[in-house]
Amino acid sequence: MGYFSQYSNDSPWGCSLAKVLAMHDLAPAPLRGFEDRSAWAVNHDWIFLNAGSFGMRLRAVAAARADLLQTYEQQPVDFLERHAEQAVHAAREVIASFVGADPLGLACVTNATEAIDAVLASMRHLSGDILIGSEAYGAVQQASLWEAAASNHRQVRVVDTPLPAMQASDIVNAWDAALAQGTPALAIVDHITSPTGVVQPVEGIIACCRAHGVAVLIDGAHAPGMLPLEIDALGVDWYAGNLHKWVGAPTGAGFLWTSAAYRDITRPVIPSHFIHDGYLESFDWQGTRDITPWLMAPVAIEAVEQRSGWQALRDWQQEMCAWCGPQLADALGTMLASPPDCPHGAMVAAKLPEATLAAYDGHFAFRDEVAKRHRVEVAMSEVAGSWWVRFSMGPWLCPADLEVAIDAVQDCALQPS
Ligand SMILES: Cc1ncc(COP(=O)(O)O)c(C=O)c1O
Repeated sequence: MGYFSQYSNDSPWGCSLAKVLAMHDLAPAPLRGFEDRSAWAVNHDWIFLNAGSFGMRLRAVAAARADLLQTYEQQPVDFLERHAEQAVHAAREVIASFVGADPLGLACVTNATEAIDAVLASMRHLSGDILIGSEAYGAVQQASLWEAAASNHRQVRVVDTPLPAMQASDIVNAWDAALAQGTPALAIVDHITSPTGVVQPVEGIIACCRAHGVAVLIDGAHAPGMLPLEIDALGVDWYAGNLHKWVGAPTGAGFLWTSAAYRDITRPVIPSHFIHDGYLESFDWQGTRDITPWLMAPVAIEAVEQRSGWQALRDWQQEMCAWCGPQLADALGTMLASPPDCPHGAMVAAKLPEATLAAYDGHFAFRDEVAKRHRVEVAMSEVAGSWWVRFSMGPWLCPADLEVAIDAVQDCALQPS
């Protein structure tokens, strides 16, 4: 069953969208500013379709970071004790403006995991359960369970979201139904789901949580760079983000934004010198650590702005998803994860046929077979017993790469060795 045969009423053509797109050769044009794909650090011997897991880096950003590390190594005391504070503040201003957030709420952390763990730990003394989505990132599920066990009174409840949802409102309704069964202390909502790359209708979910008086933490690990963000306007309590995924900062750059109402109780997972000195101060220094990824985030933001512009990059990624997704689902005879009325981000995921599951010893074995046979790197996840293959639209890719990747996934799915 192809993607649009699943939603046959939505197909204006009465045949598969994939075929229509292919017939009219509507492959996206190259992204202006990134024609030279060697600008990226990624190894082009591979078709690398997994920028989503650990991010993407421009060579120029990696080189600038190496220079900065060299400066640090030459005089670490001067670097950390005389200049770091001001440099962190300056970077914060740029990052805050990029994600539409009040800089006074934007704390420097190493990654989204650390940001989310800080919120969970800071909520420890408040009573009530933790509500998470059915596709919450594995580490977030585990951290929530850990905190719940430590509290002795909390439960972790999971929203039963349909996958695939037929429309965005099905996702909102699932949250509403879960909230109606009891009011948790905290809801952790994915802005973009990790296994399936769905851009969730967070505004609707936030409105439901607000109506029930529930504190909201958005897990936006994938959102900065991929989506234009206005964090202040979302009306949430915390927003956890990564800058090393879609912004292209070096690995180890994340942030936790906290609303003014929660800054007094929100503290980092590592208490250090300044734990008593206020919200931002407590996060900015947590012992000796490498702050160069955070300091490089403005360089990464500026580099993309100069080459293509952020909005042009986002438009191109959405176009690539819209062009490639239906072809991937058709090749597998399955469906896409994203409801047709959810906007595309920079990732698209399709279900694997049931028959494929029996032929492999787990979903990573399938991923590794695609890599071994075809030198194509895709992301694979298991959600409630089904397997999903996810393509990430790194700016070094072209439509021909995606055609090779679709064939590779189809080959391994339909002809297991
Ligand atoms: C939705 C989501 N949340 C949190 C994380 C954790 O990010 P990190 O490993 O950078 O802490 C990820 C990582 O892929 C993710 O996809």
